[in-house]
Amino acid sequence: MKENFNHITKVKGKLYLPGDKSISHRAVMFSALANGKSVINNCSASEDVESTIKCFRQLGCTISRNSNEILVLGKGFKGFKKPERILDAGNSGTTARLITGILSAQDFSTTIVGDKSLSKRPMRRIIDPLKQMGAEISASTQDTLPLIIKPSDLLEPIVYKLPVPSAQVKSSILFSGLHLEEATKVIENIPSRNHTENMLNLPVAKDNNETIISVSKNNYPVPQNYFIPSDISSAAFFIVLTLLLKDSNIVIKNVSLNESRTGILRVLEFMGAEFEINNVNNSANEFYGDLNIKSKNLVNVEIPETLIPNIIDEIPILSIAGIFAEGEFTIRGAKELRFKETDRIKAMCDNFKKLGLTVEEYEDGYTVSGTIVNKDVLFESFGDHRIAMSFAVLSLLLENGGMVNDFDCVRISNPDFIEQLNSIVV
Ligand code: S3P
Repeated sequence: MKENFNHITKVKGKLYLPGDKSISHRAVMFSALANGKSVINNCSASEDVESTIKCFRQLGCTISRNSNEILVLGKGFKGFKKPERILDAGNSGTTARLITGILSAQDFSTTIVGDKSLSKRPMRRIIDPLKQMGAEISASTQDTLPLIIKPSDLLEPIVYKLPVPSAQVKSSILFSGLHLEEATKVIENIPSRNHTENMLNLPVAKDNNETIISVSKNNYPVPQNYFIPSDISSAAFFIVLTLLLKDSNIVIKNVSLNESRTGILRVLEFMGAEFEINNVNNSANEFYGDLNIKSKNLVNVEIPETLIPNIIDEIPILSIAGIFAEGEFTIRGAKELRFKETDRIKAMCDNFKKLGLTVEEYEDGYTVSGTIVNKDVLFESFGDHRIAMSFAVLSLLLENGGMVNDFDCVRISNPDFIEQLNSIVV
């Protein structure tokens, strides 16, 4: 469905956003693995997390939802039952990749499928290390879904150096390693989001530029209550909107302050933004607080490549900030964007060209410069929630507004985006 966004001039107020998607996936998974009842508050209302919930119901867990509170009755060590049907991860890479780690250590066979977009995304990155551990996994000839996972008697720990900085790959291995007596170790030299190690309280060692994360059966999760901090990736759309409008000021309550995710705030600070954070708290080692954002003129800066994994999901909306900031906007070292829900480098460049901007596309990023000349633009979401919301924010800033095609895909991470937006528009 096409969605129309009229020009707005000001936002003000307080926003309560649903729980972080990455933390919610993990809270559901840890609760499903644990033996007994866990309660998850402020769980993400996204379709992606719903995909995770559905998979664990098929594996025998009772999971009930009362608004944003989820109750999970976990099955304990190797307590899952063989699902009657194939597991469907929908659009969710996190569901598919993390659950494969868990299923590689079970005593029954499973098949995982996904939607059209997920079925194109690379799975070799998890199959290789899991096979090194002795897992029995087969994929399509292109190393994509469907994955067929068979029980293996030979699962053993490995020491694995991540060839791509990916929290999904790291977590898939750690989830498998949770089922083994001896320690599995994952080494990363560029940090990726660290929710799995944080929430499981895993031993993390630093050696020069490397981080070594260890896991074994000793770290197997126990039932607990979680409060999920609000999603900084969803907050990013409102943060950029507020910065770019005049005389605007919003507070986003309980936003995740996990340092492996707050790169977006750091980059916006380099660009001139100032943030105030109050009421800091934590749940399951995940910190959160109230973020106060005010309008600010921004200036483009060089974005360090080592920050890319930290801001990977925020690059689309950061690029919108970039085209309104002084100077040209460049992002490099971000080839991973080509393997997300859509090829986000191509999606951003195609949409920027519609505005009459000068765009140079690279294999690992793009440079955008010039001024917006075209009015009445219809942007393409390419069925990707983060592209859809980025161009919704851009439309709100255009004199004539704008339209985003196939906007419904925002349900993947934030089904209530429009209601949240309407609550702060003055
Ligand atoms: C995620 C990790 C990131 C991110 C995705 C969620 C996670 O992917 O893009 O939206 O929850 O672990 P990669 O770590 O594979 O880049």
